[in-house]
Amino acid sequence: MYTSTILEVLVLAMSFVEYSDCIQDGDVAIIYLSHDSMMPVKVQQGAQTQTRYGVIRHSSDLIGQRYGSKVTCSKGGWVHVLHPTPELWTVSLPHRTQILYTTDIATITMMLELKPGSVVCESGTGSGSLSHAILRTIAPTGHLHTVEFHQQRAEKVAEEFKEHRVDHLVTVRNQDVCKEGFGVTGVADAVFLDIPSPWEAVGHAKAAMKRHGGRVCSFSPCIEQVQRTCEALADQGFEEISTLEVLLRVHDVRTVSLSLPDFGPDPSPPTHPDGSEKSAPTSGPNQTAVSLKTTTPPREIPGHTGYLTFATKPRT
Ligand SMILES: C[S@@+](CC[C@H](N)C(=O)[O-])C[C@H]1O[C@@H](n2cnc3c(N)ncnc32)[C@H](O)[C@@H]1O
Repeated sequence: MYTSTILEVLVLAMSFVEYSDCIQDGDVAIIYLSHDSMMPVKVQQGAQTQTRYGVIRHSSDLIGQRYGSKVTCSKGGWVHVLHPTPELWTVSLPHRTQILYTTDIATITMMLELKPGSVVCESGTGSGSLSHAILRTIAPTGHLHTVEFHQQRAEKVAEEFKEHRVDHLVTVRNQDVCKEGFGVTGVADAVFLDIPSPWEAVGHAKAAMKRHGGRVCSFSPCIEQVQRTCEALADQGFEEISTLEVLLRVHDVRTVSLSLPDFGPDPSPPTHPDGSEKSAPTSGPNQTAVSLKTTTPPREIPGHTGYLTFATKPRT
């Protein structure tokens, strides 16, 4: 008689809040074609994905490969297959609405003081760009209550949360936040609003928040919306109201040539702080310019997305 030990290997499945090493059937992977061209794919046995470099066959090219692998497509070109993250999702998700981008999202996450375990209310959910970032931050013990009054958008985002294996961290409600609120009372550490008339939801935001207070943020593209929201926040007793705009300023790195003025011959050799003499190149009569690397910002900075208004609900 003998006993056998069955070795159970726990293979972690991909999720937007936990990393897994290998691509599995049912995962969502990000196909990286170039820095500004990425596409999400749902990995399925037997399925194929067409790219400009040729076909990717999921069974042979993806399943079982490590995330980050370089995959050769049928026309000989290649792509990288990346593990999904909220940042990659933001630049590759199917747009149903305007979305928030990572520069604003990073500021929102920090200024709302989100952390693992935070309970957050959000409206509207839109395409779920911000929601995924919130979920990654508040996992594994926090919860997101997100409200979207457009039925198809609410259904689609709920489906995506499931596919991305974060649905245990989020409740999607299909209702008007200005009329019905967030569906919860006294539970939220933070509330985020991205709707056309946020001032109508400020009272509901307050009701959703914990008695010991918390942080609120409203995103609006127009300053008139900001003014009305600030008035409503002040009326409801919110404190530390402040508005900021985050602009992404890209700098071009380039080599420039600066002409040097002719100061004439150098009278004394340069010295080190320890007093010893140092031999150094000097600007001789032939050296009239110096070449150096610098950066220049563009003359105009496109990229106004909106204003972020933050406030604190004091303890009541
Ligand atoms: C700009 S999108 C939000 C985008 C989202 N922050 C993202 O990053 O993907 C605004 C959404 O708010 C929803 N919405 C507008 N007013 C609403 C209301 N009163 N209650 C619930 N949802 C609302 C719209 O249907 C739309 O989907």
